[in-house]
Amino acid sequence: MDFQRLISLMASSSLFCLVLSLPNFAYGQYLTDRVPALFIFGDSVVDAGNNNELLTIIKANFPPYGRDFMNQRATGRFTNGQLVTDIIARRIGFPRYQAAYLSEEAEAENLLIGANFASAASGYYDATADLFLAIPLSKQLENYKEYQGKIVELIGAENASSLFSRGIHIVSTGSSDFLQNYYVNPVVNIPYRIDQFSNMLVQIYADFIEDLYGLGARRIGVTNLPPIGCLPAAMTLFGLGAGKDHECVEKLNRDAKLFNRKLNSTSELLKTRLPGLKLVLFDVYESLYTIIAGSSERGFSETRRGCCGTGLIETSVLCNDLSLGTCANATEYVFWDGFHPSEAANKFIVDDLISAAYSLVYN
Ligand SMILES: *[C@@H]1O[C@H](CO)[C@@H](O)[C@H](O)[C@H]1NC(C)=O
Ligand SMILES: *[C@@H]1O[C@H](CO)[C@@H](O)[C@H](O)[C@H]1NC(C)=O
Ligand SMILES: *[C@@H]1O[C@H](CO)[C@@H](O)[C@H](O)[C@H]1NC(C)=O
Repeated sequence: MDFQRLISLMASSSLFCLVLSLPNFAYGQYLTDRVPALFIFGDSVVDAGNNNELLTIIKANFPPYGRDFMNQRATGRFTNGQLVTDIIARRIGFPRYQAAYLSEEAEAENLLIGANFASAASGYYDATADLFLAIPLSKQLENYKEYQGKIVELIGAENASSLFSRGIHIVSTGSSDFLQNYYVNPVVNIPYRIDQFSNMLVQIYADFIEDLYGLGARRIGVTNLPPIGCLPAAMTLFGLGAGKDHECVEKLNRDAKLFNRKLNSTSELLKTRLPGLKLVLFDVYESLYTIIAGSSERGFSETRRGCCGTGLIETSVLCNDLSLGTCANATEYVFWDGFHPSEAANKFIVDDLISAAYSLVYN
């Protein structure tokens, strides 16, 4: 935890002295008083196991996924250890991670710290999820409504509404709309130019935020698109191949930046239109790009290949127990597989994003 930064952010808060008087790390308790829950929506970057329960082939509930997680367990998380949202949950001080909503842990008391509705291979556009039998974003919202009903039953309408407005809603999706849909699917890339497609996605995003707001959400953090042209699988599929020129695909990064600009201006509009809404964008593009560019200072030796399942055609489906050449220790790899950052990279990403997360709570 960047304690220095936390303190400087909280210096403006009247409760500053209270925090300082607590023993080391006990501020976790304090933060869960302020942020009682996390509600997580999106794709494989934040899916904590919902896809385990689906017919989809996009799953990660087998080794070597999870080999650096608690008890070396493959939970369905698409990385070797913790997801970005897991690290945030721990830093806030939750006693456990928010349960995948479709899992059996998602019941009773466990639901009171929020829940995870995300599904790998989904996007803003429902049709992206449909291609892989994942849970579309609109269905994630339906599940959230159902969840809210359960919470009202558990703690009453008044306490529930406080949980929904004070909890942080995290939305992290969009990469699949491009990598697993637009770039490979003539059904969308013939009728739509990339900017039209982006406009459509951003419109869905705006509607989604308005729906969350209508359900009582007041603190929402949204990740922008990462540099999708630097994901190992994208370099292999859309670049010059896995040979010596395994370099970021500039065109894809330009598309991501275009989308991110639209996401930014739409977010600014939403803030003016929806009173009392705190909405921040987590700049994952900048964070991941900087980690890749300055990798050696941060202890990474490999930025272009995933630790697992890297080959000619890299998809997460290719990372499994039979994969050849899986690296021995993922801490030196920015990417765990062809699409997903390693836990080591996720920790740096959280360091970069955490001040934006605090601004949802303290500003
Ligand atoms: C609502 O919260 C208050 C304060 O924490 C608690 O005393 C009360 O029992 C809760 N109401 C219900 C219905 O659980
Ligand atoms: C949009 O971008 C500007 C300039 O980088 C930034 O100051 C602002 O916070 C961004 N808006 C959101 C909602 O993140
Ligand atoms: C991986 O390497 C890091 C840094 O060198 C080390 O701290 C860690 O214990 C290693 N993990 C395993 C599983 O060997």
